[in-house]
Amino acid sequence: MTVTIIGSQLGDEGKGGTVDLYGEGADVVVRYQGGDNAGHTVVVGDETYELSLLPSGVVRGKTCVIGNGCVVNPETLFDELDALRERGLDPDVRVAERAHVIFPYHRRLDGIEEEDKDEEVGTTGRGIGPTYEDKAGRRGIRVGDLLDEEVLRTRLEYVVPQKRAVVAEVYDKQAGEELDLATLFETYSGYGERLAEEGMTVNCGDYLQSRIDDGDEVLLEGAQGTLIDIDHGNYPFVTSSNPTAGGACTGTGLGPTEIGQGEIVGIVKGYATRVGSGPLPTELAGVEGDTPGYEGSEAQRASDHEAAQPLSDAGEREEELATYIRDEGGEYGTVTGRPRRVGWLDLPVLRHATRASGFTGVVVGHIDVLAGLDEVQVGVSYDLDGTEIDTVPPTTEEWGRCSVNYRTFDGWPEVDWDAVASEGYDALPENARAYLEFVESELDTQLYAVGVGPGRDQTIVLENPTT
Ligand code: IMP
Repeated sequence: MTVTIIGSQLGDEGKGGTVDLYGEGADVVVRYQGGDNAGHTVVVGDETYELSLLPSGVVRGKTCVIGNGCVVNPETLFDELDALRERGLDPDVRVAERAHVIFPYHRRLDGIEEEDKDEEVGTTGRGIGPTYEDKAGRRGIRVGDLLDEEVLRTRLEYVVPQKRAVVAEVYDKQAGEELDLATLFETYSGYGERLAEEGMTVNCGDYLQSRIDDGDEVLLEGAQGTLIDIDHGNYPFVTSSNPTAGGACTGTGLGPTEIGQGEIVGIVKGYATRVGSGPLPTELAGVEGDTPGYEGSEAQRASDHEAAQPLSDAGEREEELATYIRDEGGEYGTVTGRPRRVGWLDLPVLRHATRASGFTGVVVGHIDVLAGLDEVQVGVSYDLDGTEIDTVPPTTEEWGRCSVNYRTFDGWPEVDWDAVASEGYDALPENARAYLEFVESELDTQLYAVGVGPGRDQTIVLENPTT
């Protein structure tokens, strides 16, 4: 049986906490896409673990697998492993031989391309996009290639001159050490040796299937979220992989029937956040007509400019609210430290995510962060060019033109969340329950858990698919 955990919004929903919680009953925890662009925070007592590549299950001492759909920066891999070992853990981590390797030139190109774009994506700068580009362009280098010096050298000899030419001739920049063939070969064959010495590489699909056949429980951990999925997200403001459930199949080598027979759990944060550029229709912006980082088309910019008003009282209130939620929720990027943009919960986004991944249940978190507000809003539908719609339109320009229809809920008070977590669902403030039950019924799925704080014991579990 498998359980797949998926971000239902724009990433940063708190998946790490749920993986940690449900991971207790799992034997193997697998990441199936993305690389060291993910920021997963796991809090255990006074200890906080911030991971950008390793599956969150590593903190529980589970066997962790970095699947073939991932892109792997070996430097991050070994840094995170060494740091955990220094903290007394004994991580058991396997890496798919079919996963692609991030090289320093991918990170350089990520930066150069962002600088060059009129509308930057706001990437994490970790070389994710350029590595997936090489994968699709059939010039990538895979983890298995690091184990064979001959193969590694041949592949580098093919790709490095191409990348040097791109840097010099397309972008008019000077290539540095990141494109020095001898250094790359030495460093990356060294990583290959260490992978081999520690027996870390696996044939991912075969390995996972055999664990399942032996009766083990496998938890598949999505990184990022549905709205930054390269197919189902708001292209081009997306990451370059598939966080949605289909990615769990292609990114592990397990078939859709295997994954589909299990549970697929959507992780929902009780409000919306976004790092990087692109629309956020329910954003609490507060600053004269702008959506930070989103510039839209020229026509859109002109009309935004016309609509721009001096900062109004309402705008100031929105800004205050955004700051309150950002600070209460610690909404600053785990990987980059960037402050996140903040908005109200957006049901069209959640309906889109529920359909794209076929959620069997949802976990709604950060309910404590919203405590103390007089009222809490939920975006229930959009108006797009005069028509009401209840899901996300296919183009980002259309999404950027959507205005939101809200439903207002009375707020709930600050309470002793630890006590609530130990007493259970009925101990939640009544208005918070009304909010949660509305979301559950609108998505026509089941509420599996409610997060009322970042700690392992601060989740009210209604359904645990791994026990
Ligand atoms: P990349 O994944 O670094 O290429 O970045 C592409 C887009 O995905 C940017 O808007 C990033 O801010 C966003 N992104 C990447 N990883 C995460 C994440 O873990 N949480 C939220 N957004 C992310």
